[in-house]
Amino acid sequence: MWGIIATWRMAAEGVEKASEMLAKNGDAGDAIETAIRDVEDNPYYKSVGFGGLPNEEMEVELDAGYMDGNTFDVGAIAAIKDFANPISIARRLSKEKVNCVLVGEGAEKFAHKEGFERKNMLTDRARIHYKNRVKEVREQELKPYAGHDTVGMVCLDTTGKMVSATSTSGLFMKKQSRVGDSPIIGSGFYVDSKVGGASATGLGEDLMKGCISYEIVRLMKSGMHPQEACEKAVHDLDQELKERRGQAGDLSLIAMNNKGEWGVATNIDGFSFVVATEKEAPVVYLAKVVDGHTVHEPASQEWLDEYMRTRMAPVVEK
Ligand code: GLY
Repeated sequence: MWGIIATWRMAAEGVEKASEMLAKNGDAGDAIETAIRDVEDNPYYKSVGFGGLPNEEMEVELDAGYMDGNTFDVGAIAAIKDFANPISIARRLSKEKVNCVLVGEGAEKFAHKEGFERKNMLTDRARIHYKNRVKEVREQELKPYAGHDTVGMVCLDTTGKMVSATSTSGLFMKKQSRVGDSPIIGSGFYVDSKVGGASATGLGEDLMKGCISYEIVRLMKSGMHPQEACEKAVHDLDQELKERRGQAGDLSLIAMNNKGEWGVATNIDGFSFVVATEKEAPVVYLAKVVDGHTVHEPASQEWLDEYMRTRMAPVVEK
């Protein structure tokens, strides 16, 4: 059995490439890295990699995490600038016994020494989005932080190896050096090949409060199906946050177990995700909350067309 599940529609092309590799008995680590690099390299996705939106200082600072569910090797980088593929740097770091989580300048030195590709990650498109958003926030009292979509994935290969990984530019207009859940083991990602894995997208500051990816794997270990585990973890954290703090940020989770069964839960409407397994060709789904439960259905062709149209529409300075 093989399978891969990923957050957001932007992962669809990468999941397709990964599924071709997995169907030919490819390695889960190679497949997930290929899939995430595909998202990082796409200039139209403004919350991951090239074209990601900048922080308050107009710098694109990127976070990524990678975990191998066989060995528990973990690598992560945070607040790294000017490197093309954060996921590959995180995966390379996962081979280190110590010093496997690096931030900022230290992460950049490591990436340079290891020969990773340097790239200016700030595009003209992202620069215009930034300027427009600053203007909108000033004029319409909008929240600057809205709209941040991490790519997170869980992957199972035919040997039974599982991996989980993330990549993001984090909160739009975040403070310099701000770190969210994505490079934090147990929050943004976690995987154990004996059980399964999970990955998160949403407001990092709130996702971290529940160590939510670890929590989902723990619930699956206790016998829950990934769907039940995702729903319980998201529901419980959402409720706790509302009770203690009056509100909960966006929380959306995906999970897969070591049988290729998968689950998803969210506290928002319109969370998209992508799944491919030995039994199902890559499908983009849309999830929403109905009566306290997450329900999902395949995205319509109309939705898919509109998604690409809005992502690729020209941006003009307002
Ligand atoms: N979930 C991504 C972030 O908050 O940075």
